[in-house]
Amino acid sequence: MNKVYEKLMTCVESIRKRIDFQPEVALILGSGLGDYADEIQIEQTINYTEIEGFPTSTVAGHKGRFVFGYVNEVPVVIMQGRVHFYEGYPMSDVVLPTRLMGMLGAKKLILTNAAGGANFDFKPGDFMIINDHITIAIPSPLIGENIDELGVRFPDMSEVYSQRMRKIIKDTAEKMGIKMQEGVYMQFTGPAYETPAEVRLARTLGGDAVGMSTACEAMAAHHMGMEVCGISCITNLAAGMSTEKLDHKEVQETADRVAKQFKELITGIVTNI
Ligand code: HPA
Repeated sequence: MNKVYEKLMTCVESIRKRIDFQPEVALILGSGLGDYADEIQIEQTINYTEIEGFPTSTVAGHKGRFVFGYVNEVPVVIMQGRVHFYEGYPMSDVVLPTRLMGMLGAKKLILTNAAGGANFDFKPGDFMIINDHITIAIPSPLIGENIDELGVRFPDMSEVYSQRMRKIIKDTAEKMGIKMQEGVYMQFTGPAYETPAEVRLARTLGGDAVGMSTACEAMAAHHMGMEVCGISCITNLAAGMSTEKLDHKEVQETADRVAKQFKELITGIVTNI
């Protein structure tokens, strides 16, 4: 059997031994949103360290566990703390949790992240509906022997972020009086923030936000047929766009400042999706 698939199935079995919960919607929570998972109706939690073969996240401030439960009666699985490529894991491990949530039954995936704004119309604290992405700065998570059990060798990527879900996000936000931006997310490897030249490159290519996660997860999920959407919290203007130097504290502060609204929005979206 394909080694990547074998590892994935080991993780699936490890979880299935403990819980037979059937999630409909999977969520991956980015910076500042982590404690959303603590606020839902929790049925069960599983720490990443308890799952055989699972890549365990090392970033301070990121909890590492799956939370199974309900958001307004919608069964969800939440990844509280994601796995980043910059932590040193191979891409197949970075997207393993995404695939795992798909294998557990989640047909829909909501991705969130903190990102730098590359678009001069954006300001810190804005939310951006991801309508497409650019991944040329990272290796594809689909490189390697194809996992035929999940999807085809040459998957179409013309609508990674579901139009239907994007409309639901837009309508939900509008009803809640939350202004949404919309744009293209460009993933870099991190962990360093981009240089001003890289941010100009992103903008020249049509990127509106830059970050270190999400697009690879979206690709893996789309490959296996999940319906995907994503929202970036623009925590800062990307490097070179202001006189400020970037630091993680500023990113965290902005994310924390808008977290309450972001969480309300996520609840609205899960309910309507
Ligand atoms: N670049 C990359 N990732 C980020 C940024 C950024 O400016 N802000 C928050 N996450």
